Amino acid sequence: MNNIPPLQTPEDYSLFTIHYSLILAPMAGVSDRAFREVCAAFGAVQTCSEMVSARALVYQDKKSLTLLPRGLGERDYAVQLFGHEPDLLAAAAEKVIALENPDRIDINMGCPTGKIIKNGDGAALMQNPKLAGEIVAAVKKAIGNKKLSVKIRKGFDNGNINAVEIARIAEACGAEQIAVHGRTAKQLYSGLSDSTIIREVKKAVSVPVVANGDIFTPGDAEKLLRYTGADYAMVGRGAMGNPWIFAGREPPELRERVRVALAQITRAAELKGEYIACLEARKHFAWYLRGLRGATRLRDKISRVETLEQLKAIAVEL
Ligand SMILES: Cc1cc2nc3c(=O)[nH]c(=O)nc-3n(C[C@H](O)[C@H](O)[C@H](O)COP(=O)(O)O)c2cc1C
Repeated sequence: MNNIPPLQTPEDYSLFTIHYSLILAPMAGVSDRAFREVCAAFGAVQTCSEMVSARALVYQDKKSLTLLPRGLGERDYAVQLFGHEPDLLAAAAEKVIALENPDRIDINMGCPTGKIIKNGDGAALMQNPKLAGEIVAAVKKAIGNKKLSVKIRKGFDNGNINAVEIARIAEACGAEQIAVHGRTAKQLYSGLSDSTIIREVKKAVSVPVVANGDIFTPGDAEKLLRYTGADYAMVGRGAMGNPWIFAGREPPELRERVRVALAQITRAAELKGEYIACLEARKHFAWYLRGLRGATRLRDKISRVETLEQLKAIAVEL
């Protein structure tokens, strides 16, 4: 410890804050193992699987099992479960721990998608605080000393803004970390994320609070952390094609972006096969190239790629 110099300037301080505070958000269809590994390498202090159905897991769905494994270098790795039946969620959590031994289990109480809500899962749980508490208690009992976190929204809709109530219940029932996205489920991704509700949750509970919503630059993260007093900041859309955010940096120039994107897709090919990885490369490259002038032609070329060799050939030409 002795040879670490003290933090001296405000710039030192903000870099320090960023380096130890940024979490990659769970994102279905985005935060697969290959992408999480890249984000962890750039400094994400926690990472989380795509959401996994507790019911599907318990009934041995093969696709769900492929979502569970920890990637290389993921230090504090969560598997996120969704569902609405306490027993089933507890059984799924137990199974996840037996199979993959993640550092934590996360419970999804924020997903606003119609199909999920209709089943009473995701953000629908915010309309049923008693059930939300029962779920947290059942899962905590099942996982013993493994960590348990929950991810919530501001509320279900404008008439039901109850993040503080749900956070208090979750804490009382055994949650050890609470992430709050400052939008209601009804809002989906429209409007701005409300940081004041996150600040209120932070004041109301003593477990670590994670501030989430609309972080697109390291500066956004720092501002949100300062304003809310939250312990961590979670980055979702702002991390797509931009793992540099976890290092507190702006995205670099074209070649470096392509180099990292290619490394990610090569790894994805190892993990899920070349065909699927190349199909998914189209969207990942589009994100990696975002904001660069003249990238349209490159994106067009990549959208026709079917093999890693073709993808590498395009990268070499740059
Ligand atoms: C494509 C996509 C997929 C998502 N999938 C999940 C998910 O599986 N579980 C979850 O809790 N939230 C999910 N979210 C929500 C994000 O974790 C995050 O709360 C939200 O995007 C707000 O953060 P942001 O403004 O940094 O994007 C998803 C968001 C996006 C854009």
